[in-house]
Amino acid sequence: MANVIVIGAQWGDEGKGKITDLLSKSADVVVRYQGGVNAGHTVVVQGQTFKLHLIPSGILYPDTECIIGSGTVIDPRLLIQEIDQLESLGVSTSNLMVSETAHVTMPYHCLIDQAAEEKRGEHPIGTTRRGIGPTYADKSERTGIRVVDLMNGHDLWDHLCRTISAKNQILEKLYDLPPLDPTAVLEEYLGYAERLRPHVVDSSLKIYEAVRRKRNILFEGAQGTLLDLDHGTYPYVTSSNPVSGGACVGAGIGPTVIDRVIGVAKAYTTRVGEGPFPTEIQGPLGEFLCQQGAEFGTTTGRQRRCGWFDGVIGRYAVRINGLDCLAVTKLDVLDQLAQIQVCVAYEIEGKTHQDLPTNSAVLSRCQPVYKTLPGWQCSTADCRQLSDLPPQALNYLKFLAELMEVPIAIVSLGPSRDQTIIVEDPIHGPKRALLHGNGLPTA
Ligand code: IMP
Repeated sequence: MANVIVIGAQWGDEGKGKITDLLSKSADVVVRYQGGVNAGHTVVVQGQTFKLHLIPSGILYPDTECIIGSGTVIDPRLLIQEIDQLESLGVSTSNLMVSETAHVTMPYHCLIDQAAEEKRGEHPIGTTRRGIGPTYADKSERTGIRVVDLMNGHDLWDHLCRTISAKNQILEKLYDLPPLDPTAVLEEYLGYAERLRPHVVDSSLKIYEAVRRKRNILFEGAQGTLLDLDHGTYPYVTSSNPVSGGACVGAGIGPTVIDRVIGVAKAYTTRVGEGPFPTEIQGPLGEFLCQQGAEFGTTTGRQRRCGWFDGVIGRYAVRINGLDCLAVTKLDVLDQLAQIQVCVAYEIEGKTHQDLPTNSAVLSRCQPVYKTLPGWQCSTADCRQLSDLPPQALNYLKFLAELMEVPIAIVSLGPSRDQTIIVEDPIHGPKRALLHGNGLPTA
């Protein structure tokens, strides 16, 4: 038994949805600890595709409890839509719990996010325009509305009266937008409150009770390490902490509760939105990876930028998150390539660097140093164990493990649950994984 954190080791969209869905089978409780409806997880179960934004993918297992934790931000309208969509597909949401201390995304947050992006002109962040940054900004400024306030009509009205006049000034004077009517907002949000009321809990207490009952708990991060507010490619980041440390704060638990940290990384790299991306591939090859990997955002439908695997970023993710092991996803996307490049270091102004620069402006000037590996040019989609893989694919994985200095526990070769090689079950297995790099001892 183990309490495990699953995080994205790149810029998000690493396929965490599929990996958390797989691991949720062994989990009693799944906790989402940060972010909001900016995230998008696609999970395919028996040919049926589920697109989730806030609700942990554990919801697809009838006995798994799913908690949307304190560190998240909740757009109640979209959360209710997600609940309704799952129920209409026959998935029960009776095990869904929502933290009463999570912050609520209000209509002015979305309007300000959209207007601020427009105003940034040629230098946008490329946000999902779902009001995430402005909701977290109010939380930090201590003017936010929490789920607990939403549940109490008087408190909600008090908060709205205090907040909305200031927000209306921003909307009208800064962005030339019409003001919001507080009474209409109150009425709309009181309706949402009634729908969500049965799900609202003291989430930290619920999680602590599960810890005491020795339940298996999976902490699910959204976005990825390089989008972390403190440790990502600032300012081209999201406004929360997707890194493993964020799980303790966002769930309301102590670090001693955590047994393992699993990083999820694609066999190549993608990024949506703006910001530096040293291994980005422009032109037909980038387009090929995009089409082959269906690299379009679950939340915004935007085309993702594609590039080679970046070992510098990989090592950084190991360091920042304290990764125990890795799940490598979408290996099959590389099946047709004759040669595959992997970035092993960066070159900046004639000097080679092994570590990620902290300044995004410097990162945008980095040139990747590549190692070229042979491709396998055959399908891996039906491989179910390591020995089924062509030798070049196995070598590729070992190279990544050696480069990142972390063993690989899971390999994913397609969207379905069964298109997976479980080298080691990170929840039930012993604390060692089997696929090490070429130069490392194999267990
Ligand atoms: P925000 O989170 O909407 O404020 O967007 C900030 C940055 O994070 C933008 O570059 C987004 O494209 C990126 N981002 C936010 N959520 C995700 C995600 O789930 N996957 C990938 N990128 C994301």
